[in-house]
Amino acid sequence: MAEHSNKSGQGITIESKSPAEIIKQGMYHLLFPEGLEICPNLSEVYELALAYYESRILTTKELIDNSAYFVKADNELTRHYFICTGDPVKIPDYSSSRLKSFFVQNQFRTGYATHGFFPYRGKFHPQMIKAVINIMGVKPGDTLLDPMMGSGTAPVEACLMGIKAIGMDSSPFCRFMAQAKVDALTINPENLEKFMGKAEILFSDFKACPAVFDQQKAEFLEKYRDMEKIEREKIFNVLFLAFLDSDGYAQRSNRKTHLEYFQSIFERYSAAVKKIAGVLSHFNMIPAQTLLTQGDARHLDIEANSIDGIIFSPPYSFAIDYLENDLPHLKYFETNIPKLSETMIGMRGKSLKEKYGLYLEDMEKVISECSRVLKKGRMCSIIIGTNDNQLSKALNIQKEAVVGLHKVVTEIGKQKGLVHVRSLPRQIVGMANTMRQEYIVILRKQE
Ligand SMILES: C[S@@+](CC[C@H](N)C(=O)[O-])C[C@H]1O[C@@H](n2cnc3c(N)ncnc32)[C@H](O)[C@@H]1O
Repeated sequence: MAEHSNKSGQGITIESKSPAEIIKQGMYHLLFPEGLEICPNLSEVYELALAYYESRILTTKELIDNSAYFVKADNELTRHYFICTGDPVKIPDYSSSRLKSFFVQNQFRTGYATHGFFPYRGKFHPQMIKAVINIMGVKPGDTLLDPMMGSGTAPVEACLMGIKAIGMDSSPFCRFMAQAKVDALTINPENLEKFMGKAEILFSDFKACPAVFDQQKAEFLEKYRDMEKIEREKIFNVLFLAFLDSDGYAQRSNRKTHLEYFQSIFERYSAAVKKIAGVLSHFNMIPAQTLLTQGDARHLDIEANSIDGIIFSPPYSFAIDYLENDLPHLKYFETNIPKLSETMIGMRGKSLKEKYGLYLEDMEKVISECSRVLKKGRMCSIIIGTNDNQLSKALNIQKEAVVGLHKVVTEIGKQKGLVHVRSLPRQIVGMANTMRQEYIVILRKQE
């Protein structure tokens, strides 16, 4: 036997020096207690770290009910396993083989529940968010806030975990999209399926009155009066999101008509609704309440010391022009674009340098608000990366001299009473030219 010492001076006993024995033993038993089985396809160090923290922080029951990185705990299959398996995520036949293999590879990471609705740029990995919620110590019955919820990944995850969610975004389109994804969790699938045969009529109704969302909704609610109003509203939201999603596809590709895209996306959404309804009813789970609003994260209309956990991902400086991206959808919401761009963090200012200055000013306000509303001793996680190329140009400095935004927000947090706990790096695949890494920055409000 060999004795090694780790940093804290504790001895680690390695039982055999034989390479074959060591390899045969593996390493997971050193990290995880017996009976815990991690999700397949787990491939990154930050995922292993999150799994490790979950295994240390959650009880066995919590691991079974809400863990993100385990398929078995105490030899019992977890809910995450059931949410992500069974009927595979229904991807349309015309999808590229690359997309199909992405969904297979990412079965436990993304695309499950209603996360596959609408390809919103910059959205969180749901599995990662679920784990971060867990390791921040946020429990069923608590309240989680995402003040920049985008497509609503955090509220969807939280309410599936029995955690109340408050979500906010300055974009009316994001508010709508997040609401539709949350609504889809509690629709009776049979009610939605009734609309399957009406896809052409729905499509021409939506097309005929393209400009005004409220009017579309009022007409729909009036036309289909044979079910409760609340169910009709949820169904309208899901159908209209499918309509906007198909609009995007039709603009990007001419392989199908807009109507054909609408039909297949509706079918896909419908399959997701059926799948999650089955899991929820199997476990007798009722998603927790959510309150999703259009608002400005710099001025939160929330009581001080009332929130149990915060998670958000701000725009990465000015890497993505969310307004430009969402313009075709925003027009349905009668949006005053110049006014909206005044509230969008990363959009204010003319030159890159001015934009960056205003970005920091805005982030300071957001972090200060987060600190105010968070209960003492609770945590706030910020997922953030840095576009080094852009910042070095904006500040006219060498790329190597750019200070990462994860460090900048950590410093702001410190000034606002949030102590740094840890920053977990995560590789970004697909945007390697502009951003190679992002960080999960975990801060804690002083007692
Ligand atoms: C990186 S995205 C968030 C994506 C989200 N985490 C998800 O999973 O979809 C950043 C979001 O911040 C929103 N945003 C920008 N400025 C804002 C502000 N002042 N208040 C609230 N939301 C804002 C943008 O509309 C955008 O949806």
